[in-house]
Amino acid sequence: MRYHSHDHSGFLKVLSLLKSHDAEYLSGQDLSDVLKISRVAVWKHVNRIKRLGYTVESRQKLGYRLKSDTYELLPWEVTSGLRTKSLGQDAYYFDAVDSTQSKAITMASENASDGTLVVAGKQSKGRGRNGRRWVSPEGGIWLSVILRPKFDVSSVTLFPMAASLALSKAIESSLEITTELKWPNDLTLGGKKVAGMLVDASLTSNTINSLVLGVGINFDVDSGKLERDLKDTPNFYGVASLAKQKTRPRILVRSFLEELEAYYTMMNRRKTKEIIRDWTKLSSTIGSKVEINVAGRKVSGRAAKIDPDGALVVESGSKTIRVMAGDVIHA
Ligand code: BTN
Repeated sequence: MRYHSHDHSGFLKVLSLLKSHDAEYLSGQDLSDVLKISRVAVWKHVNRIKRLGYTVESRQKLGYRLKSDTYELLPWEVTSGLRTKSLGQDAYYFDAVDSTQSKAITMASENASDGTLVVAGKQSKGRGRNGRRWVSPEGGIWLSVILRPKFDVSSVTLFPMAASLALSKAIESSLEITTELKWPNDLTLGGKKVAGMLVDASLTSNTINSLVLGVGINFDVDSGKLERDLKDTPNFYGVASLAKQKTRPRILVRSFLEELEAYYTMMNRRKTKEIIRDWTKLSSTIGSKVEINVAGRKVSGRAAKIDPDGALVVESGSKTIRVMAGDVIHA
């Protein structure tokens, strides 16, 4: 099933009436009179609302009452109260999808606007970096954002770093959990991977047509099970989940989109120094001894700094090596 932030389906009218009556009961007859639909139609809408994860109490003679809202990242829930100009304002949710990244790439090629958000409840073919799979069970946050940047191709590698910085700040402010940034764009919690990003770019010579940022967050997943499933994949270094929180995932998604828009605007204004400075502050890589797999070759040394284009500068003996992409192991 696909839902859009600007949907006007009948069940959303019922939902909105239930919400506006807070915890009070609304009779089936009243709903049917106000919406000019049959009582059976009301009942069907209520069942659909329940399937979307809302708890609705039905009592004979009293009617229906919204007891609690949903944990699903439904687009009207994500956009309500979202303080961004464009990021996430046009949002799509799929209960199950192969990959939000593949969906978003198709939508980008069909002219989807800057900031369009694609979210999934679960993915059957989640994609990770370097052609790896990304296991995406229910309970995680799996999303892609379509962007039409004004910055040029030379900044593309810096962008997922800006995005990981935005996510780390959003996790801190919405969940009060401090994560570390591992080059190039992993978020770790106690040294284990808690989120990852990838970017797919569509270019025409030196111009960016679109970027699709894919973000996977282990929000409330069974990290033990994921570790057992993933332990034989390359570059595995453990899985963490952002603990079982009562917080709704949409609080984090909103905060992420707001932080991301701020960094995206900075990048469009070519203010990359600030991004590298902020990223370095939260990084567990800079200053550490690292080993990096660069196209099958091992580079080891001390991670010294990030260059303006996002490259990692490693001091290895008397040499200084610039690494544009690769998997880092913290020694
Ligand atoms: C990584 O390897 O660290 C990047 C993982 C990115 C996973 C996300 S989940 C949402 C989006 N859709 C995908 O298929 N992949 C990205």
